[in-house]
Amino acid sequence: MTDSGSQPSRFYLTTPIYYVNARPHLGHAYSTIVCDAIARRKRALGVETWFLTGTDEHGQKIERSAKLAGCSPQEFADRIAGEFRGLWDRLGLTYDDFIRTTEERHIRRVQHLFATLRDRGYIYKGSYTGQYCVSDEAYVDGPPGTICPDCGRATETVSEENYFFKLSAFERKLLEFYEANSGFMGPESTRREVISFVRSGLKDLSVSRTTFDWGIPVPGDEKHVVYVWLDALANYITALGYGSDDAKDQERFKKFWPADIHLIGKEISRFHCVYWPAFLMAAGIPLPRSVKANGWLLFDQGKMSKSRGNIVRAETVHEVLGADALRYFLLREIPFGQDGNFSFDALVQRYNGDLANGYGNLVSRVVNMVHKYFGGVVPEAGAATQAEAALRASAENALASFGPAFDDLNFSEALKGLWLLVAETDGYLTANAPWKKPPERSDADHAALQARVLATAAEAIRLITALVYPILPDATAKVWRQLGQGELADAARNGFLKDLAWGGLKPGTKFGEPAPLFPRAEKDAVERMQKLEEENNRTAVEAVSANDANEAKSAPAATPAAPAIKYAAAPAPAPAVAAKPVARAAAKAPAETAAPQATASAPATAPAPAAETPATPTQERSHITIDDFTKVELRVAQILVAERVPKADKLLRLEVDLGYEKRQILAGIAQYYEPEKLIGRKIVIVANLAPRKMRGLESNGMLLAASLEGGAPVLAGFLEEVPLGARLK
Ligand code: MSP
Repeated sequence: MTDSGSQPSRFYLTTPIYYVNARPHLGHAYSTIVCDAIARRKRALGVETWFLTGTDEHGQKIERSAKLAGCSPQEFADRIAGEFRGLWDRLGLTYDDFIRTTEERHIRRVQHLFATLRDRGYIYKGSYTGQYCVSDEAYVDGPPGTICPDCGRATETVSEENYFFKLSAFERKLLEFYEANSGFMGPESTRREVISFVRSGLKDLSVSRTTFDWGIPVPGDEKHVVYVWLDALANYITALGYGSDDAKDQERFKKFWPADIHLIGKEISRFHCVYWPAFLMAAGIPLPRSVKANGWLLFDQGKMSKSRGNIVRAETVHEVLGADALRYFLLREIPFGQDGNFSFDALVQRYNGDLANGYGNLVSRVVNMVHKYFGGVVPEAGAATQAEAALRASAENALASFGPAFDDLNFSEALKGLWLLVAETDGYLTANAPWKKPPERSDADHAALQARVLATAAEAIRLITALVYPILPDATAKVWRQLGQGELADAARNGFLKDLAWGGLKPGTKFGEPAPLFPRAEKDAVERMQKLEEENNRTAVEAVSANDANEAKSAPAATPAAPAIKYAAAPAPAPAVAAKPVARAAAKAPAETAAPQATASAPATAPAPAAETPATPTQERSHITIDDFTKVELRVAQILVAERVPKADKLLRLEVDLGYEKRQILAGIAQYYEPEKLIGRKIVIVANLAPRKMRGLESNGMLLAASLEGGAPVLAGFLEEVPLGARLK
């Protein structure tokens, strides 16, 4: 009985290429770690494997992020791409190639693909007026004001000359393809969603943009840049060598294309299961064999993402518990394809339960006893009793079922099954207690039992170790040495999993020195990780504040469409209400409560009856100069998303649109405003406050409201139509 099943002779798998608008977090690490585990297993089965990852660096979103950071898009992309690659290296991920879409090789080959699509009659020139979601870099159907159905942010109206791809011509062909290739998309929920999207009708797709230039120029018409999703999806073939004249590139492309798995997050399945196959069909290139979507890693009850401000970095877990702990947790805890919660507590629990007390403890018991009783040399097991036969049968069972479950991406099930064998081996040891000699047992019998039990347990450990290698590469390498098997990396390179079978641990094998694998995590592990995250958030906030300074410098360029409101003749008299900033608590205020007591005048707020809220007597105020006032950047914003913050009665999380950018603000108005009723409402915010964290979420500004003694705050607003981003002066 071996583990290998039927395997292809070569295998190509890819991660999504990650946007460089923000630093990597656990969500990105999740998809990449899954691919790494698959790639390691394939190589260890003797399959020639190519594992590609990289970064997606073009498009309006990156251009804007760079502008806000005060540097060129290329500098910005270089920095963040370096962080992704650096992190993957620190985590020991074994990608074969890391493609950046700003590389020359990619640019030339995308132009080749674009020209091919045009030459084959699938691209034509037209013009597009409609909605565009910059965050998703996606066209959205609907009138101006439509909210992006995927991310919930406001779309922008674009009107420009574009090249169009004849996507509509592929509706029937795609449906036929899905029908004939039932394993193409997974999980089932993704498959259903995609099919229903295609059935609802496909419109031609704009595949170039003209209103910004951070992209790949369309060959022969350079005022257009290639639509960022066509550019990005093409990475899967350009990295291999599609469109290159070089013989080696061509050979690699021929060898590895079509891809066996495009592993993606579920939110980008439309791009991978509809647009990408259509582009390939149009270009006459074979289609990938499968697209598999992982679910979302959730933290604090929401998808882990930078815009929600609820990220955890892989570096933190790596530093405290090691990369293997993170890999094991992600693959064991979350059934692939489903959303899964991440928490430090659950991580430490799994680590202690399964790794420190489970596998790690088992290895240490057996290796130490082989050293103690047999001088570190594997004894001859002798004749097996029923107990050994039973353990062997379980091990062979695990060997037969682990591979198919893993290859179906059921990592959690595969590990669960293998850990039953860990527990059974542990139980076998305890039941036979080779460390205890009952008085009635002769020395010779006891030595035979010790030999039989330790050799059998060590063999079970060898099989467990080999199988779990793709998930725990660091720990298993140590165990392999302790079992006297040499370097696991060499064994993996030589396809050792292919011939894995019971009985490989030969008597006479000299064990290596015992060494700790997973030291038990103490109570403070969770605190240490939380602290590392807090420290990182603090530095990130400082970095954002520094960016704010840059933003101020580059404001004219970043906010061209933000007109200022001017008062006609004399400034309006100060209204009789004080508008109080409600969102951003002062340094001393408790995180969740509203606001500093400092007040700001709100010239545009409808005045409330003077009797209700007397103005502060002028003589009690200290005056500020007009320069002081102009330091405060008050702007008009529209609420796009409003939702309660879990476990914070007073806080609402708002996403607001300033016209030139969108941002998250936390406001202490949850007791006074129903979130649903706020959506679409125009408000006034202090736009240049330094960001601050509350309940793990970052607030980037503060909204203004009239503060009524003993009553509910009243949000500042306008009676006339005002454009988003307009400055109040
Ligand atoms: N650049 C596009 C993909 C182009 S592929 C041709 C993109 N980039 S992204 O930076 O937004 O990364 C998205 C991918 O990161 C997801 O599809 C998923 O693989 C991974 N994840 C990011 N956050 C995640 C979670 N919170 N949970 C799980 N995976 C997540 O979209």
